[in-house]
Amino acid sequence: MKVEEIKNVGIVGAGLMGHGIAQVFGIKGYRVNLYDKDPGILERAPEKIRANLQLFLELKVIEKSDLELCLSSINLCHAMSDLCKGRDIIIEAVSENLKVKQLVFAEMERYTSKQVLLCTNTSGIRIEKISEGLQNKDRVVGTHFWNPPHSVPCVEVVKSEHTSDEAFKTILDLMKKVGKEPVRVLKDVPGFLGNRLQLALFREALSLVEHGIAGAEDIDRVVKYGFGSRLPFIGPFETMDLAGHDLGYEVQKYLFPELCSDLKPLNVLKRMVDDGLLGVKTGKGFYEWNDKTINDTIHRRDLGLLELAKIRNKI
Ligand code: NAI
Repeated sequence: MKVEEIKNVGIVGAGLMGHGIAQVFGIKGYRVNLYDKDPGILERAPEKIRANLQLFLELKVIEKSDLELCLSSINLCHAMSDLCKGRDIIIEAVSENLKVKQLVFAEMERYTSKQVLLCTNTSGIRIEKISEGLQNKDRVVGTHFWNPPHSVPCVEVVKSEHTSDEAFKTILDLMKKVGKEPVRVLKDVPGFLGNRLQLALFREALSLVEHGIAGAEDIDRVVKYGFGSRLPFIGPFETMDLAGHDLGYEVQKYLFPELCSDLKPLNVLKRMVDDGLLGVKTGKGFYEWNDKTINDTIHRRDLGLLELAKIRNKI
């Protein structure tokens, strides 16, 4: 299937990611079917999408007509068979559990013809595992959107060893067409690109806290106000080229042996999990949380992302 032939999109799972992915396609006028096994979550999706769009509107990232187009493009479905009807592509965004995903893919296979493209928003399960047991694995592609999917531009498009070149290309083209910044992931490795990089940072950050070198707040600040300030504009390879590889090589020689290379989650994290300090879920993690601080932090993140989108002229 070519990208021009895609008009009808299906999204399975209307949770945190699914409703935002529906918005990405709805705002571009694609006809979107959205399904969740939990009817309450499904029914609340349009309100959440409206609230996201309202913020877009306030910041003049979209027009009122875009909001109306988006909401009128999204159709709620109450069964997988309805969701799949007449779709050209379906994106799965259900819970991060291999068995659940495999069952959803088996149903998608049952209700679609073999040219319909099937995508998964898994954060890091190998695509090959998710497509195990399917008859036509060549049409399964990873599409890893980042939270919040309606305002973070990147989508990692992942090719398994079974994914056809045509399916891979069509999904890359489709992501560009809806205004996303697709990244090609050529091998189906756990964590793809972004989570591997992000987790390397988390491991070192936790190790610094564990060794009492700095507190969580100061580590957050060195990222936000230090090297992280550059990251939306230049990536690590551009940074390394600018700095010079002779310098980089010397630094790596003395610094790499100092960095955390633990193969298990760090003790500091294990202790927090054991003590029920799960972050916003339990009101305490590295910070204390209440409804106001949670909402303020999410709002600060979303405003920042939209300001960045305006600079990049990309939504
Ligand atoms: P969520 O828990 O907010 O939403 C998952 C939804 O799937 C729930 O509403 C649930 O009712 C529904 N669901 C579960 N089984 C189903 C089934 N058999 N049929 C239909 N609906 C079903 O989870 P979230 O965060 O939206 O994650 C979805 C996927 O996106 C996961 O694979 C996750 O790893 C991935 N992801 C999550 C990110 C995040 O920051 N939360 C970022 C990038 C990817």
